[in-house]
Amino acid sequence: MFLLRLRTLLCLYSLAVGSIQTSESFWKLKPNVLVVDVDVKGVNRVEVPVICGEAYEGHNITWTKNKDKHLEAQGNRITVTVEGWKGANYSCFDNEGSYLNHTLVLAQWSFRKIIRNTPEKGYIHCATNNYGGLFQCSWSWGENRHGHITHIEAIRPDGGSNISCSLDPEGKSITCLDQDYCPYAEELERINLTVYFRSSFVVESYNAKFYIMNIVKPDMVAISRINHTCVEVGYPDSWNTPSSYFPLIFQVKEIRCRKRKKCDCSQLSSIETYHTQSLQLPVSKGKMVCVRAKDEFCNSSWSEWSQYKCKKNRKQRKPKLKML
Ligand SMILES: *[C@@H]1O[C@H](CO)[C@@H](O)[C@H](O)[C@H]1NC(C)=O
Ligand SMILES: *[C@@H]1O[C@H](CO)[C@@H](O)[C@H](O)[C@H]1NC(C)=O
Ligand SMILES: *[C@@H]1O[C@H](CO)[C@@H](O)[C@H](O)[C@H]1NC(C)=O
Ligand SMILES: *[C@@H]1O[C@H](CO)[C@@H](O)[C@H](O)[C@H]1NC(C)=O
Ligand SMILES: *[C@@H]1O[C@H](CO)[C@@H](O)[C@H](O)[C@H]1NC(C)=O
Ligand SMILES: *[C@@H]1O[C@H](CO)[C@@H](O)[C@H](O)[C@H]1NC(C)=O
Ligand SMILES: *[C@@H]1O[C@H](CO)[C@@H](O)[C@H](O)[C@H]1NC(C)=O
Repeated sequence: MFLLRLRTLLCLYSLAVGSIQTSESFWKLKPNVLVVDVDVKGVNRVEVPVICGEAYEGHNITWTKNKDKHLEAQGNRITVTVEGWKGANYSCFDNEGSYLNHTLVLAQWSFRKIIRNTPEKGYIHCATNNYGGLFQCSWSWGENRHGHITHIEAIRPDGGSNISCSLDPEGKSITCLDQDYCPYAEELERINLTVYFRSSFVVESYNAKFYIMNIVKPDMVAISRINHTCVEVGYPDSWNTPSSYFPLIFQVKEIRCRKRKKCDCSQLSSIETYHTQSLQLPVSKGKMVCVRAKDEFCNSSWSEWSQYKCKKNRKQRKPKLKML
């Protein structure tokens, strides 16, 4: 009982709205990548100092822009100009023409073109199917732009977290793991996720802040038959155990399906729905029962609907006699 009460307390937080960060002039996004903010009104020319490498001080260094264009400026330190959104990739070479290093200069603007806003999910949508510390974030690509992820930052502001993210094979989502996440402890601070998308030499950053407990959406429940008046609901395999500490609540409705017509649990039905914690549910013959699940204590999402159609009672098949 104490544990249950603790769980309710842990869930009293709610989702925060995402925000967008800006900073001034230029800054280092990661090794070899500088970002120039061109959002600032009236700023359409920014001078950026670029260095080939500490080790090359005093050497004869030559530079190219985007591989093919040779720059007049020479030496270890040069200044390049970003006009409008025209970032570039600057490479430096020694006096024998051997490649030494490069700096990618990107322009960050405030437009939102690389990925798309969607009515229900916003720009970046994060979800997880349990309290394990693993979560997935997805987005929709904008039109007419070839975008990809150039950098991901995920931290909790207190710093006491170790969150690593990687791009999924399909390239349409990322999966992150909070190594220090503990489902039994209070989640004090939100995860601050910033994803940098690049298209050509432009970068856009998107930010989301959330508690894991608010992005939980259980997988679909399993429904199995007990007898012709009763079915049993099973917790998703991916859900945390013990289920007494992580109880789910079920939403149940029965719908009548016309023959040969596709039955869809998400369709609005006038028939009443009810909530229950019971794993055994009564069903009516010929109707379809729809069940979805949600964490009982947290204000998080419902799972997708699971459906089960009670078949009319069939005669039991007679066991075949083996011929001797
Ligand atoms: C290459 O350039 C980056 C800056 O873009 C610099 O931080 C790094 O130290 C350089 N690498 C070497 C080997 O000098
Ligand atoms: C740099 O180039 C100049 C002329 O091109 C040459 O006189 C000088 O010796 C070179 N210095 C080094 C360190 O190679
Ligand atoms: C920038 O140039 C370097 C050196 O040619 C290359 O290794 C790197 O992939 C380039 N980066 C981009 C984003 O074009
Ligand atoms: C979230 O992360 C971004 C990018 O690292 C940073 O600019 C911003 O200040 C962070 N917000 C909080 C509340 O820590
Ligand atoms: C983060 O977790 C990984 C995997 O457990 C570990 O290798 C790494 O050292 C951790 N980093 C920090 C800063 O704790
Ligand atoms: C069907 O199973 C439920 C649960 O085990 C039981 O309560 C009920 O009596 C059974 N009904 C029939 C007709 O066997
Ligand atoms: C639960 O979350 C939804 C959507 O995030 C919100 O509209 C609703 O007000 C929240 N309810 C409570 C009790 O916090």
